[in-house]
Order: sequence, then C-alpha cells, then structure tokens
Amino acid sequence: MVHPTVPQPTLAPSAVFDWLDEAADLRARAGLTRTLRSRPADDPVLDLASNDYLGLVHHPAVTGAAAEAARRWGGGATGSRLVTGTTALHTELEDELAEFCGFEAALVFSTGYAANLAALTALTDPDTLIVSDAYNHASLIDGCRLARSDVHRAPHADPDAVREVLATRSHRRALVVTDSVFSVDGNAAPLAGHCAAARAHGAALLVDDAHGLGVLGDGGRGTLAVADLAGAPDTVATVTLSKSLGSQGGAVLGPRRVIRHLTETARTFIFDTGLAPAAAGTALGALRLLRAEPHRAARARELAHTLAARLTAAGLHASTPDAAVVSVRAPGPEAAVQWAADCRTAGLAVGCFRPPSVPDGISRLRLTARGDLTDAQITEAVRIIAATGPA
Ligand SMILES: Cc1ncc(COP(=O)(O)O)c(C=O)c1O
Repeated sequence: MVHPTVPQPTLAPSAVFDWLDEAADLRARAGLTRTLRSRPADDPVLDLASNDYLGLVHHPAVTGAAAEAARRWGGGATGSRLVTGTTALHTELEDELAEFCGFEAALVFSTGYAANLAALTALTDPDTLIVSDAYNHASLIDGCRLARSDVHRAPHADPDAVREVLATRSHRRALVVTDSVFSVDGNAAPLAGHCAAARAHGAALLVDDAHGLGVLGDGGRGTLAVADLAGAPDTVATVTLSKSLGSQGGAVLGPRRVIRHLTETARTFIFDTGLAPAAAGTALGALRLLRAEPHRAARARELAHTLAARLTAAGLHASTPDAAVVSVRAPGPEAAVQWAADCRTAGLAVGCFRPPSVPDGISRLRLTARGDLTDAQITEAVRIIAATGPA
C-alpha cells in the first residue's frame, strides 16, 4: 500500500514510544493487561495451571537426564543444527520420538512454535491452498501468515467445510491444518473426517499434537496413533517437548522425505541454534520414563474426566475434556482475572485465558489435570474454584 506523503510532526525522542502507553491504556480498559509473575522454586500452591501434563518436570529420572546431558554436551548447542548444533543426543531423541509415535522420522526444533512455522512454510508454496481450522493455535496461524500461500480459515472442527473448500480450489496443492486437541477447551479435532476430506482431494494433513503427545493413545503415543494416521504417507505431525515431556523444544514427525525437505529448507531449523542439550536430554529422559510407565497417560485422562465431572456437579460451566485440559467459563475478562487471583490467594494456581487467546472471545479458567495429582487434590481444587467463582 502506498501512503500519501503528509508532513510529519516533530517528535522528541522521548515521545516516540508514547503510542505504546496509549495502547496499554486501551488494553487495561478492556481488562486485558498481562503481567509477569516470578514463580518461586518452592511455590506452595496446588498447580493446575502448568502444561506439565504428566507431572514429570521434577521427576528425578528426568532432571537427572538433563543434568547428565548438560555435563556431557555443555550448556548450549553451540550453533545451528546444520553446523555444530547436532549432537548424538539430538539424533537419539529424533529416532526414539519417531519410533514411539509411529512415524518414519522426526526433526527436533528449539520450540514447538518453531516446528509449526517450519512445517507450514516448508511444505507449502504459492500454488498451495492452506485450509486452517479457525481455532488453531497462534503458532499455526503465524505459520500460515509466513507461508507464501493462500489461506482459508475453515469453521472450527468442520470436515464438511474443509471438503467443500478443497473441492473448489484452483491450487495444485493443498494442506489441511489442525490442532489435534484444542488448547482452550481441550476438545479433540475430528481427525478421521479431516483425513477423509484431505484424501478425497489429494491434500496433505498437518496435525499439531502438542496436547495429545503423552496423554492420548496407548501409553501416550499421541492422537495420530489413536486415529491410525501415525506413519501415513500424506500426514505430518508436530509436537512440543514442553508439555507432557516436561522439557523445552518441538519436533516435526513424518515421512522421511518430508523430514529431509525440512532439514534442507526450513528457515526456523537452518537459522536457529539447535535445541540445548539439557532440553534434549530432559525430553529423552521423559520419553523413556513414559515408555517404562505407560499408565501415566491413562491416569491424566482419567483425572481430567473426574475434574470436569466434579466442576459440573458444583454448578460450573466446565468443558468436556478429550485429553488433560479442562476449562471453566468466566463471565468476562476482568472476572476471569479476578477469579484466577482469588484461586491463587486460596492456594490454587489456574490458567486464565482471555482474548486474544480465546478464538470465540469467551474468557475462561484453564485447568490441567496433571497425571500426578491425587484424588484429594482434585477435590480441593474444585472446592476452591467453586468457592471463589463469580456469583
Ligand atoms: C497447540 C500448541 N501448539 C504449539 C505450541 C507451542 O509450543 P512451544 O511452547 O514448545 O513453543 C503450543 C504451546 O504453547 C500449543 O499449545
């Protein structure tokens, strides 16, 4: 867009960022201020806010693996994965993750966010139509924005709408993109329907299994294993290592030729320092623990159902969980913030989701049914949420 030239007011250097204060005021008036809170190491609150779905972040086998990795390989990866940033630990993690989830190959990134940007930009071109679920995670949305492709925002969880847009496209290629389990309500995508729609029209399927890995499927093998799509030649998955695996990082899983293509072309792989060895070690330690103790996945799912049922019995508007996330509706953003703060004062940490993190504009408390919680802790959490809730 060409802007007409207009005389610019002279601004003192100290006024150049004044507009940021105005924007902050607007956010404050809408109840959308966000602040950082430092968490002490020995925070005494009951934690239903973290994404540590299996409660592995402090497990000695996991922290021990992290320490060993840092001692052996150093504090950082020292460079891009294609230069010095690939250690034997990265390769082991990729092989074990691919094998565990049922894919031919995997490629590890420094975050799940970077993995999503990589998959969306490297697997598309100007002759590709991306069909993206309206409730997809921000990292998928940003990947769509970075891809040099047309993007169609499909209605949430609607394979018929996906089928329709694929059928009428003029593009040579198409990619259907969806979260497996949606971050806000914890509901699962209709993967069988999306897959059938994609296959009927020669499209590829990209599924972000950030909330499925470690929770869904036999022993936590993920949503694609449940849908019998793991290892399919037209399907690619992304995962994060920062939720169930208690670490940091992300990965793309798929056919070997997809992984090769990403290795050679994905900008968030090539121009980013490799995942820190301690994070790779942590994820590998957690993955091995999950293999040895497969009951952890089922326990997280069971607790999520218990939590949702008890919240509903207490008269609250709780979502029906398909994995470990349960949300409770709040009357508005300010009420949600106040509710979360009151929970904390009463000894319970909960997540608070407000616009723009909620695609439907409805603010919520977001709870994670960590697999290591006890039944008594779930009861206590429900008691606090009900007691502090808006009238
Ligand atoms: C669905 C989904 N995809 C991707 C990400 C990004 O993963 P990471 O935090 O590892 O960057 C997240 C989480 O934050 C997520 O919820």
